[in-house]
Amino acid sequence: METKKNKKIFDAHAHYDDAWFDEDREELLKALPESGVSGVVCNAVDLKSAEVIKGYAEKYSYIYFTAGFHPENLEDMPDNYLDGVTEYLKHPKCVAIGEIGLDYHWDIPKDLQNKIFEEQLRLSKELDVPVVIHDREAHGDTMDLLRKYRPKGLMHCFSGSVELMREVMRLGMSISLGGVVTFKNARHSIDCAKEVPIERLLLETDAPYMSPVPFRGKRNDSRNIAYVAEKIAEVRGMDVQKLLDITAQNAKRLFKI
Ligand code: NI
Repeated sequence: METKKNKKIFDAHAHYDDAWFDEDREELLKALPESGVSGVVCNAVDLKSAEVIKGYAEKYSYIYFTAGFHPENLEDMPDNYLDGVTEYLKHPKCVAIGEIGLDYHWDIPKDLQNKIFEEQLRLSKELDVPVVIHDREAHGDTMDLLRKYRPKGLMHCFSGSVELMREVMRLGMSISLGGVVTFKNARHSIDCAKEVPIERLLLETDAPYMSPVPFRGKRNDSRNIAYVAEKIAEVRGMDVQKLLDITAQNAKRLFKI
């Protein structure tokens, strides 16, 4: 792979517990800092994954993690799941409740999704911690709940219009953008990349998914943020390293790192 000499890449959203990394996870996680990666937030999808990624955070100084229930992982949830999430948040490297939200792409009961999302939003307000939001084809209901609770946090892999992005800004939240900005059909993402106030922009991979061009369809990892940063820096007319520095600072501020 071509190595780009950028430093201080902060990946605000990744899933290094994914089976796609099983064959070489340890080598990869060891190698990332040598390739300029200075921070990664591994996101949980349930309590089992929170436990696994907590282990990565304890082993690697640059890795942080979240705890929470993703809308695709609502089967067989323990009744006291909020206690479990709360327990993880006591860990010094557990930086947010995530990823949580709504996914109307898949056939998952909407009332259950909304209930669990709302309960986790309420917990974030109680504990005063940020949330990482997953919103797939559910902009309306997601925004209704965000307007109601006004949590601190991040709309990850933001896929909305510029109008929606502006409303997210008015609510005081941030967005993160990833590989999609390099795709040919990425008009919304490019418009948002151009317009978003720079202090509210984070960069992410959603690894192992969403690889940027020229690796589209292949396994993604945090180094590839270099390609995302290059594209966004180009449309904003700014220096790539400066964009990486600012977005890394934004992530640290949001996650209190
Ligand atoms: Ni994710």
